[in-house]
Amino acid sequence: TLVPTADLVAAARAAGTGVLAFNVITIEHAQAIAAAARRAHRPAILQISQNAARYHGGVSAIAAATAEIARAAGAELSLHLDHVDDVGLLEQAPAAGFSSVMVDASALSYAANVAATRKATDWAHERGLWVEAELGHVGGKPDAPASAHAAGVRTDPAEAARYVAETGVDALAVAVGSTHAMADRTASLDLDLVAAIRDAVPVPLVLHGSSGVPLEQIRAAVGRGMVKINVGTALNVAFTDAVRAALPESRDPRRYLAAGRDAMAGVVERLLTLLPEVP
Ligand code: G3H
Ligand code: ZN
Repeated sequence: TLVPTADLVAAARAAGTGVLAFNVITIEHAQAIAAAARRAHRPAILQISQNAARYHGGVSAIAAATAEIARAAGAELSLHLDHVDDVGLLEQAPAAGFSSVMVDASALSYAANVAATRKATDWAHERGLWVEAELGHVGGKPDAPASAHAAGVRTDPAEAARYVAETGVDALAVAVGSTHAMADRTASLDLDLVAAIRDAVPVPLVLHGSSGVPLEQIRAAVGRGMVKINVGTALNVAFTDAVRAALPESRDPRRYLAAGRDAMAGVVERLLTLLPEVP
């Protein structure tokens, strides 16, 4: 079932738990997440990044396929547009079936981030979209623009409160020790900072780069107010390893893609059952 991201996040937050958000690059990703969500009896957010949309030469085809997979799935799934700094892409979000979007101006200075995010958020809210934005800089994204911050600059709680008030965003992505695109779970989160930001801001918090975070720390971060947990790289590691193992035996893409899809579903199912269920 395709549901709004806002509903999944609100339900998780009210229950004191989190909701997993997985990056969709190919149709196999969306199918793997849908299968795992059905098996685990858990909701999930399907997110397509600006980079993934570029890979497909546009967002509409992969978004349509992902939305259709969500509609047909035996689990509640929502469609989120991730890490957008291209206004032209943002403007396509409502028609492409997204109920939410992350406006990523995190590489800009504070003032420029606020100005860009406020403008995008006003536009998105008029169209019923739920908006996430980032303050501080998680870093580690391939092809990321040069940042106004040193990589790994942490989010300041007081500045976060001001940022949310000035931009009107519905959720805040924070830099608390994770980095994008880590293939090993060797990051270390500042859990006291998570709690301090949670106490300072009125909106749910989002953890990016969760592939690099030890599972126990993800659970602990959710206990301190992290609500949306973004995972991408862990799926790609599982997918690529399984495809590599299956390749020598087969020239039929269905063989090795199915192996990759099954491996991703296993990782997704494990992550979905990590957090307490919404009653
Ligand atoms: O927005 C997407 C996430 O932050 C994914 O990060 O690929 O490091 O898990 P990750
Ligand atoms: Zn991210």
